[in-house]
Parts: sequence; structure tokens; C-alpha cells
Amino acid sequence: MDGLNEIRRKFLDYFRAQGHEAVPSGPLVPNNDPTLLFTNAGMVPFKNVFTGQETRPYVRAASAQKCVRAGGKHNDLDNVGYTARHHTFFEMLGNFSFGDYFKAEAIEFAWTLITKEFGIPKDRLMATVYAEDDEAFDLWKKIAGLPDAKIIRIPTSDNFWSMGDTGPCGPCSEIFFDHGDRIPGGPPGSPDQDGDRFIEIWNLVFMQYEQHADGTRANLPKPSIDTGMGLERIAAVLQGTHDNYATDLMRALIVASAEASKSDPDGAQAVSHRVIADHLRSSSFLIADGVMPSNEGRGYVLRRIMRRAMRHAQLVGVADPLMHRLVPALVRQMGDAYPELRRAEALVTETLKLEETRFRDTLARGLKLLDDEVEQLGGRGVLPGEVAFKLYDTYGFPLDLTQDALRSRGMSVDQTGFDAAMAKQRQDARAAWAGSGEKATEAVWFELREAHGATEFLGYESEVAEGKVVALLVGGQPVDAVEAGQEAAIITNQTPFYGESGGQVGDTGIIFSADGAEFPVIDTMKKLGDMHVHIGKLARGRLTVGGIVEMKVDKALRDATRANHSATHLVHEALRRVLGPHVTQKGSMVGPERLRFDFSHPKPMTVGEIAEVETIVNRIIRQNTEVSTRLMTPDDAIAAGALALFGEKYGEEVRVLAMGVDDAKDNHTYSVELCGGTHVRRVGDIAIFKIVSESAVASGIRRIEALTGEGARAYLSQQERIAKEAAGALKIAPEDLPARVVSLMEERKRLERELAEARKKLAMGGGASGGDAGSQIEEMGGVKLILRKLEGVNPKDLRGLVDDGKKQLGSGVVAFVAISEDGKGAIAVGVTADLTGRFNAVELVKAGAKAMGGSGGGGRPDMAQAGGPDASKADAALEAVRGAIGALAGAA
Ligand code: ALA
Repeated sequence: MDGLNEIRRKFLDYFRAQGHEAVPSGPLVPNNDPTLLFTNAGMVPFKNVFTGQETRPYVRAASAQKCVRAGGKHNDLDNVGYTARHHTFFEMLGNFSFGDYFKAEAIEFAWTLITKEFGIPKDRLMATVYAEDDEAFDLWKKIAGLPDAKIIRIPTSDNFWSMGDTGPCGPCSEIFFDHGDRIPGGPPGSPDQDGDRFIEIWNLVFMQYEQHADGTRANLPKPSIDTGMGLERIAAVLQGTHDNYATDLMRALIVASAEASKSDPDGAQAVSHRVIADHLRSSSFLIADGVMPSNEGRGYVLRRIMRRAMRHAQLVGVADPLMHRLVPALVRQMGDAYPELRRAEALVTETLKLEETRFRDTLARGLKLLDDEVEQLGGRGVLPGEVAFKLYDTYGFPLDLTQDALRSRGMSVDQTGFDAAMAKQRQDARAAWAGSGEKATEAVWFELREAHGATEFLGYESEVAEGKVVALLVGGQPVDAVEAGQEAAIITNQTPFYGESGGQVGDTGIIFSADGAEFPVIDTMKKLGDMHVHIGKLARGRLTVGGIVEMKVDKALRDATRANHSATHLVHEALRRVLGPHVTQKGSMVGPERLRFDFSHPKPMTVGEIAEVETIVNRIIRQNTEVSTRLMTPDDAIAAGALALFGEKYGEEVRVLAMGVDDAKDNHTYSVELCGGTHVRRVGDIAIFKIVSESAVASGIRRIEALTGEGARAYLSQQERIAKEAAGALKIAPEDLPARVVSLMEERKRLERELAEARKKLAMGGGASGGDAGSQIEEMGGVKLILRKLEGVNPKDLRGLVDDGKKQLGSGVVAFVAISEDGKGAIAVGVTADLTGRFNAVELVKAGAKAMGGSGGGGRPDMAQAGGPDASKADAALEAVRGAIGALAGAA
């Protein structure tokens, strides 16, 4: 007897032999469809191939697709555990023709596989067709040889399949298996068709149309085939049971649950074990595909599934968290077929454990409250909506958990009351917000947030996704449509665009629609913590609220930003190691071009410290280890060594990023930080890290700017070019540059000194009367004088020269006028100490400066200096000084 794994393999082998490409399962989060919560059928990854939007190198495909049905159009959550065939997670085997074969071949392939390969007796099989589909009816007759009585025409939507409210659809034909008259139930179309006797095992959809949101239906480019056979159902048939939970794989999980809880798999807790087995699969596969429990969107559906399982774990009486202990059993069963499960095993285990650990306390208290309420109601009837809301709000009980808990007692919840209580709480929150004094301009965001909820961010996993436009704004006001040329803000239900936060800039990219709208996104903001707002100007076409758009983040820029963000974490840790644990982050800015990191440190970093930080970061980069992301409570994260950011506001869970291996510390994780940003997958993706500047921002706060990847490479090569050019000009090797520059500087200083000396000498020695300075000494009324005009002498050298003159005279007055190269004049006068009673240098210098058009003059009686704009009057200035001395000497 074949197990599930063999059946899956046989199915794929069979279709491969019929010219089909065996395509691996797509992810559970359908990036190609914003209207779907989860991939709920095998055709979802091929949706755009059916509609002609996308082409593949093959026209026939087969797959075993992971599916989750827990919310949206196909929602099985409430029934799981209580029935033989409901699952939140299941595998759909399918074969597909994209405009290649149609009805005849599809029926032929299906019939051959189940009757010949799988050996199911023909007399146990029957088929249904859409009432008007005579062609299918005739084909079943001809190909399968089924008698008319076993080809049932169904006039209802049961035989018209659609993916969701929009998307490919068409009439279908289903194959049923008769489990025999021991099991109650009637054939399809009969009043008791819902019994367990006649079970649909395979649905063949004759894809012909595409359903649009406005209700219209268009023809697909070519008639196509989409089939779906639940692996669990066909396994049940082949393993001789009508209960999917009795098949080998499901049974193994149920037994694992029973063993881990030391209880009877088939006893009073049988339902709970089934719930646990099913929910273990959906939770684990969702987490492996990047969904994390949260209070919004997909994350909330995951949380509901997990919490429902956890209540059943509580029911089977285990004292400690149970779910995470069952992960190895699941990986054993399914890890070969789905390697992503094995890769994510640690994350799955940890996420399940965290949720269950945290939920246990409130679960017990909430269940106690529920028991009390039930008792008050006498164990009958309807639980008031407010009680269900209290359980939801205070104890974290999703509504379906409360419903599930009441189900076994034959009770239900007043859903209208629950909704009313929820609405009232929203109203109160709104009133509180309105009274909190927030700016009126923010009111529009608040209203949008309330109407549409958070934007689901898909950008951790992918840079491309489809989104549904939930709001459009022009000039800050909501509008129904945006026309070409208008600047606008777009809000979608989900997005791969990162909204600016945590120091990381918002993504840029493009949003477009199938009917030709094109909206380049120049920035993405985040409003109220979780609403992503895409900013730009509609270049072409028209966008309307409710429309579906394709959203593409500029991947090259995002990759560069990823590298810079991850490098920021690495440098943070490196700085702490090199400078000390006082280093804390004071701010950061991470964009595609560079990263900036501000941190507390009292003094400039030395060249050596900067080099050491670069060395450490680059060493970690070369380890090329995988970057791990986990969800934790803030306390656990900090206990795990996460560097908490000062002033950061945390929700109830935080993302914890771990990178690198610390070889110095027992191979511990090198960097652990709380972070909501986008990061590289492996540290090696950063490629290179280079600090380009280190400066002060404020007292005690330093800033470094750094580059990674291509930015760093380009910078280094530019630096090299500069060095080569400089060395080339000097005709030396670049490595000799520093020594050569130092010696050139020294030489220059020496030359400057020598030049100044030479000028002085020249000034003192040269002149109209020639000879040495001594020969220029004149006398006036018994006072010795040197009065000279000095060409090309810097005014700042004047004082020294005057001093020299005074020494030379011993007793007397010295006056020099300097004429600098740019034609400006300056005059300095010195009077030896013995004569300051008779001559005041300040007075003398003023007289001289005046003659050169200057009005100033300052100093002391023995030494004064002044400027004179008109150097051509130098001789007149000296004459003025001589005159003034003469007057005073004469007066003596
Ligand atoms: N897409 C079809 C189904 O899910 C085959 O039943």
C-alpha cells in the first residue's frame, strides 16, 4: 500500500511521462494575487499563465501544491477536526494545460491514472458534469465507458469553479469515488450528497473565462485545463479508508501528538489530536513561507490557527507547550517533498514555542472566564457578544477559538453583539485619538487606517507583488481615481514597498496596472506605524480605488539598501568591540547609496580604530553566514543579547535579526538586534564595507559614514586613481607618496623661510643710496634715523625689521613703509626706549599712514603700525614722518 509520499511521486511521474513539466509547489503567500489570502488551489501560481499575462517555456505542467484554506472564499477552519475531510492545510495534485490540450485529453489522463496506475475499480467511480456540457458528458461515455446513470449533470455552481471573486474560471467535471454502502450518503446532486459515501476525488476544470471585479467575464486567450486532486483524499481511497485522518501521514502526526501528550489517539481527545495534526501542518508551512503570527491580515489567520491548536493541546492535558515538539515528526513526513520545511525547522519550532508559551497563561484564565459564563447560562444557548469580545480583547481569543470551545457543548456566540462591541471599541479609540491633539492633517491617515487596516508588508520575502488599491489621495484628500499627470499617494492592501522607518529610507520603484497605468514611486512612507503610502506622479493611464496593480520595487536599489542596513548592524557591534560597550546607537540613516551611523563616543576615532572596525566588519562579511530573523517578545530578545534601541517603541513582538559568527566567543552569534528593516539573505551579500568619514555631530556623539558593495568598490577604485595620478605627477610609485609629500612640505617650509630672509636682506641692503643699512642712517637735530621704503616685503615682517633697525641704531627712530606685491602699503615706526619721552611711535605712524590715505595707527610709544591703502604715496609718508620728527626734535 502506497503512502502519501509515494502517491505524490507517482502522480508527478505519470504526468511527466505525458510531456508535463513537474513544477515545484509555489509559496503559500501568493505574490501574484492581492485578492487571495493564501494559495488555495494548484492553479494559483499559474494564474497569469492562464490569462496570457505571463508565458512559460512549457504548455503542460503538473504539481503538488501546498494549499491553505482558512479564510476568504474557501475557508475550512471551523470544521477541521470534526469531519473526515476538512483541512486548513492540504496538498493539491494537479495537471495543467495552457492552451494546449483540452477536455478530451484531460479526461483521458485522469481516467487512465486512477484506473490503470492507481488501480481503482471502475465500478466504484462516477463523474459529474456541468448541466449544459454535453461534450464532457459524451467524452466520459466514450473514454471511460461510464453508463449514463453514472454521469450526473449538475446545474449549480458546484460544477463551475472559480479561484476567487476574480481570476480564471470555467465549468468543471468531477470524479467521485463510492466508499460503499456501509457509509451513509447519496450520490452527487441527491439530497443526501453531503454524506461520506460518495466523495469527490478529482476536479477537472475546463478553464475558459476570466472573471473581472466588475462582474464581467472575458474569454481566456485559449481554452485551458486546471485539475485538482486532494492528495489526502486520494490517499484515503487508495489506503482503503474514507477518513483522511486515517491515512499514513496524518496518522503519524496524530500518533506523535498522542505520544507527546501521553494520551489515546482515538480516545475522548480524538478531535483534538486531529486539530493539532492539521494545524501543525498549516502553521509550520505558513511560517516556513514567511508568515509570522500578528494581529493583522495573514499573520492573524496564522495566529488564529495556532491558538486554536493550542487550546486543543490544553484539552489533551499537556502542561507544557506541545506544538513545537511535534515539528520533527512533521519534518520526517514532509521534509523531503518540501525542503523549505527542513530549512525553516528552527524558525518554525521557535515561533510555535513562543506563541504557545505566551498564550498559555491567558488561555487558562480566559477559559476559566468562559466556563463561568457558560455555567451562568446553564450550559445552554448563546454566549453574549460582549463576553466573546472580552475574551478577544483581553485574553487574545480569536472569535473562532471561542466558537470552537462552545461547539462541543452545543452552544454558539452572539456574533452581532461581538461585532457591536468591536465597533464600539473602535469608536472609543477614535474619540481618544481626536482628543489627543494630533495634527488635523494626520486625521486623514487615521481615517484611512481605520477603514482599511494595516498594509500587509510582503517586502521581506519579495520585491514584486500585486496589490489592491484601497485608497488614493491627491493633495492630501482621498479621491476615487487619479488621472495621468496628477501627483498622488496610493495605499494598497499589501505591498512589497518598504515604508520609511527605523532609519531605512522608503523604497522606490513602479506601480502599474494591466490597463496601462504607470506610477513611478519616488518614495514610500509609513503612516501610523503600519500603513504604507506610495508617493509619486501618475505618468500614464488612470488608477481607481478597487483596482488591481502590479508593484515592483527597484530591486537594485533595494539590494543596495539591504546591504547597507545589514552593514549598519555589523558596524554597531564592531564599534562596541573596538571602542567599548559605552557605544550606543544614536541614530542612523540607511539608503541605497550609503549608511550613516551616529553613536555615543567622547572623542574622535583614531585612524587605527577606524581600520580595526573595517577589518572586523569585513571579516564577518566573508563568513557569508545566513542572516536569521525571528519573532520574540522584547524581553526575550534582550535576554538573547539583542541591542535594544533607545527610545524605540515596541509592539508586543519584535523582529530579531542575528548575523555572523563570533569566532572569539565560542561561535556565538556576532550581532543580535531588534529591527524591522530589510536585510541581506547572507552577510556575504554586503560584499565590502568601507568607512569614508568620521566626524562630530554633537558633543559626545560621533558619526561615521560608510559604503558597501558596489558603492564601496567604486569609492576604492576612485581613491586608487587619485593616488596614481598624484604619484604619476611626481614620477614616483604610489606607495612612496606619503614620505614624498612629507619631504616636499618640509622643503617648502625651508624654502619659504629662506625666501623671507632673502627678501629682508634685500630690503635692508638695497635701496636708493645703496650699501648696507648702516649707510642709510641720517641724523636730524642729534637724533639718528633710518627711514626706508621696502618693496615686496610682507607687512607682517615689518615689526621684526623695525626691531632690527632699532638695535642697529642703539638710540634713534626707525620708520619703514612696506609695499606688498598687491600694491598695498603698511607703515611701522619704532622709537628706542631712551627717546620715547620725546617721540611717540603712535603719533609718528599716524602721520605717515595719513599720507598714504590711511586713518588708523596703533601700538605703543616705542612701536606702532598702520596700514595705508595707497602705496604709491610711500615717499610722502616717509616725508611726513621725517617732518614730524623734525618738528619735535627742533622743539627739543
Ligand atoms: N482549481 C480546481 C480546484 O481547486 C482544480 O478544485
